[in-house]
Amino acid sequence: MAEIKLANLSKAYINRRQRRRSRNDPDQRPGDRVVVLNEISLEFQEGEMVCILGPSGCGKSTLLRIIAGFDRPTSGSVFIGGKEVSGPRADSIFVFQHSGLLPWMTVAENVGLGLRHLRDPIDRAAKISEYIEMVELEGFESYYPHQLSGGMQRRAELARALAVNPNLLIMDEPFSGLDFLTHMKMREEVVNMHEFLRKTTLVVTHDIDDALIMGDRIVVLSGRPANVKLEQTLNFPRPRDFERSPELSRLRSEIFLMLGVPYAV
Ligand SMILES: Nc1ncnc2c1ncn2[C@@H]1O[C@H](COP(=O)(O)OP(=O)(O)O)[C@@H](O)[C@H]1O
Ligand SMILES: [Mg+2]
Repeated sequence: MAEIKLANLSKAYINRRQRRRSRNDPDQRPGDRVVVLNEISLEFQEGEMVCILGPSGCGKSTLLRIIAGFDRPTSGSVFIGGKEVSGPRADSIFVFQHSGLLPWMTVAENVGLGLRHLRDPIDRAAKISEYIEMVELEGFESYYPHQLSGGMQRRAELARALAVNPNLLIMDEPFSGLDFLTHMKMREEVVNMHEFLRKTTLVVTHDIDDALIMGDRIVVLSGRPANVKLEQTLNFPRPRDFERSPELSRLRSEIFLMLGVPYAV
């Protein structure tokens, strides 16, 4: 059985803008219904890492919010483990596009947020160390978020999410705003973490390379209203390399074309 099933998911918002952005933009009239997701049906298997790609503004974050139960679809349903999602669930953890660390708590306290159920402080401290080690932040336990670099903040966030031991990890553009090298390193860490823990992971990104390097499978969404343009399993061995795999490279060019860029850059 699929762990997550999206059945004919659609979402429309009512446009509350008072003025049109441009004269011939039909979406911009106040009171209009703006369809963001259009009849999306997908299945995600247990343990799989699926990267969802799509142009900016197509509805990727909306889709994740609906899967996480933070938002309701206009029609259609989400099932996790056979049960319909009707609100946020303790076993689905969301890693946001922007840092969600609590600024008044240290790294260790932030990571410990998901471990409050462990009564024994020694057990708790051991678990906190385990996850801090997993993301290579040893030595920074007592730092506050503002004392960390962007990449370290993102790693601390990942540790906090993993500490909860969720069944489902949902990441919305997890590398946005990171510098190039940090981005590459974080990407590798997320891939390694997934190989090790095998959590069902959904990653939304607008970065084609991220999706192709990371995903067990990719889903390409169209522009708004988003529907599924391509679903493809990636059976390429890891670590993946475009130069060594002409087939991966060809798929990359195909997706660039699909997203409206005539040549791969
Ligand atoms: N709460 C909301 N109310 C009205 N419109 C929204 C709301 N959230 C998102 N939208 C609109 O839905 C579209 C998709 O948004 P989003 O899911 O954030 O896209 P993406 O993450 O792919 O960039 C955008 O045009 C956005 O303006
Ligand atoms: Mg988004």
